Amino acid sequence: MSLSRLAPAKVNLYLHVARPDVRGYHPLRSLVVFADYGDEVRLRPGEGRLFIDGPFGQGLSTSEDNLVFKAVRRFEAATGIRVDRHDFYLTKNLPLASGVGGGSADAGAVLHLLRQACAPEVSDDVLSAMAAETGADGVMCLWAEASIAEGYGERLTPVTVPTLPAVLINPGIECPTPAVFKAYDAAGDFAPIETEWSGGNLIDYLQSTRSDLEPPAIRLTPVIGEVLVALRAHPETRFARMSGSGATCFALCDTVGDAEALAVKLRAEWPKAWVRACALS
Ligand code: C5P
Repeated sequence: MSLSRLAPAKVNLYLHVARPDVRGYHPLRSLVVFADYGDEVRLRPGEGRLFIDGPFGQGLSTSEDNLVFKAVRRFEAATGIRVDRHDFYLTKNLPLASGVGGGSADAGAVLHLLRQACAPEVSDDVLSAMAAETGADGVMCLWAEASIAEGYGERLTPVTVPTLPAVLINPGIECPTPAVFKAYDAAGDFAPIETEWSGGNLIDYLQSTRSDLEPPAIRLTPVIGEVLVALRAHPETRFARMSGSGATCFALCDTVGDAEALAVKLRAEWPKAWVRACALS
């Protein structure tokens, strides 16, 4: 039996980050949505190996440090089931260390597939607990539903957002999350993280929110600022911002046609960048 699952890209429409706690971790509040595009994870009969292909597969570890195996070990520890009769096939379509939660999404997809194949009795809460141990984005990327994320990113309240035609662009530079948080702390500029969306026009609302990791990420990787300027220069862009700790930026558009047209222009302007038109919801 072969099972497969999409591990979709996550986008932080806003990301408000508070002063770090005693452990150095940051309470946050974020509106997260997910793309209709991502990595692909397949499970087939085998012996516990990981095979990787896809445009961003090169150089990605196929051993224990891959988040796929972190998820497998969490599943084994929680269920007592040894995962040695399946192989994993990962098609890595999402850029690495890019603020769209690709690794966490892969881990989430693995947990869903293992439950389906080996332990359908495992509850959603138990699956969430396993995902939480794979990283701060683990739970949101497991469920991949539009949500307000609070706590450290693990406390989710589902929200209904309209389907948003969008373009994702990554200039091809990895942006390690801890370094961006460190640069954020160094600036010492902490604003309140609370905000409420009570319906109305989502883009108008987003204008009143922030991406707190955008300024430090731009300081570390100035090309992110250039990408945002380029996005905002096009009439198809209704709203542009960086996702997560970067370097992927997104543009929201009015229509699918606008998003596709914008993607074509960006590919011409940024031939080395990863550019993807998609729908976020
Ligand atoms: O949990 P994850 O491994 O994805 O987080 C990577 C790093 O990002 C952490 O080691 C920490 O430095 C930082 N982080 C944080 N506060 C959060 C989430 C992540 O400081 N809420």
